[in-house]
Amino acid sequence: MNQNDFIYKTPHVLPDLDTYASEAPSNIALVKYWGKYGEQLPKNTSISYTLEKCKTQTEVILKTKIEADDHFHFEVFLDGEAKPSFKSKINTFLKRIEVYIPFLKSFEFEIHTKNTFPHSSGIASSASGMAALAKCFMAMEASVTPEMTEDFRAHKTSFLARLGSGSACRSTGGKLVVWGKHEVIEGSSSFYGIDYPYEVQDKFRNFKDSILLIDEGQKQVSSSVGHNLMHGHPFAEQRFLQADENITKLKSILATGGFDEFFALVESEALSLHAMMMSSSPYFILMKPNTLEVINRIWEFRQSQGVQVGFTLDAGANVHMLYPEASDEKVKAFIDENLIQFCQGEQVIHDQIQF
Ligand code: PMV
Repeated sequence: MNQNDFIYKTPHVLPDLDTYASEAPSNIALVKYWGKYGEQLPKNTSISYTLEKCKTQTEVILKTKIEADDHFHFEVFLDGEAKPSFKSKINTFLKRIEVYIPFLKSFEFEIHTKNTFPHSSGIASSASGMAALAKCFMAMEASVTPEMTEDFRAHKTSFLARLGSGSACRSTGGKLVVWGKHEVIEGSSSFYGIDYPYEVQDKFRNFKDSILLIDEGQKQVSSSVGHNLMHGHPFAEQRFLQADENITKLKSILATGGFDEFFALVESEALSLHAMMMSSSPYFILMKPNTLEVINRIWEFRQSQGVQVGFTLDAGANVHMLYPEASDEKVKAFIDENLIQFCQGEQVIHDQIQF
């Protein structure tokens, strides 16, 4: 399927005035997306675990039917409070998806959203936020398109979410999701995420992600600026090749490999992502001193205690500790005794992946 398949065919058919609600989880990439082209298309393939507890819950309330003009007429609320500062990003999203969801200009509507995690935590809420919003829009389309198949709905939801925030297309369904066309992943597409279609050993299916909240401050450089700095970046092409090779390697690790190889690949991905930021022009650093302290302590703990645990990073200072169920007790004790003091307000979110 490509973008033409997702164009809405009957723009005169409008959904009813009603509330369309949905929720979507956050995700954490094992192989990272950093660098895009065209309309939110990724320069390399990425793959992520879907989290269970960190979610965004959203309602779109269609209030009044109006004569469509050149503008979208909507208000945004976070936890019941008006958030005019969110409007510009959503407006950009609505413009991008207009040809695929053309009926939104025919309504005055409200978007009410809340996160199950602290908004200021530095956890990317754009992935779960845009995914939840895309799901609401697809609920509207489904209400007037009863013949829509599940398959089409899943692909189009992810396709729309991608136009809000790239990584959001990995948050609309599935537990281990691949985004970006790749020769060893059948059915993969740069237009939407797909469920990882190959064998995954049980030990990689029941994983924990403890998110250490290192810094709640405003990010110094946004993801979209960071992606753009990959244009003309001296190491960009090599990085895209590395990520695509890591997808091939991860496929074999998930089927037959061990934890050591898994953590080596995932940690290398996280540090390569941040290395791209540090070697951009202009350069920037999103890690904080406590990020490095925590990483060093995890390495020391793993080596001295032989516990299966590794880390990954998003575009921020927080550390995601990934570990299998069997390490749960030891890792949680280690966090409480040795890492909690490096977290702002001693905040840790214990999330998980299960499939
Ligand atoms: O979805 P965006 O544009 O916010 O990009 C996020 C990219 C990373 O989180 C750093 C990596 C990834 O693949 O999720």
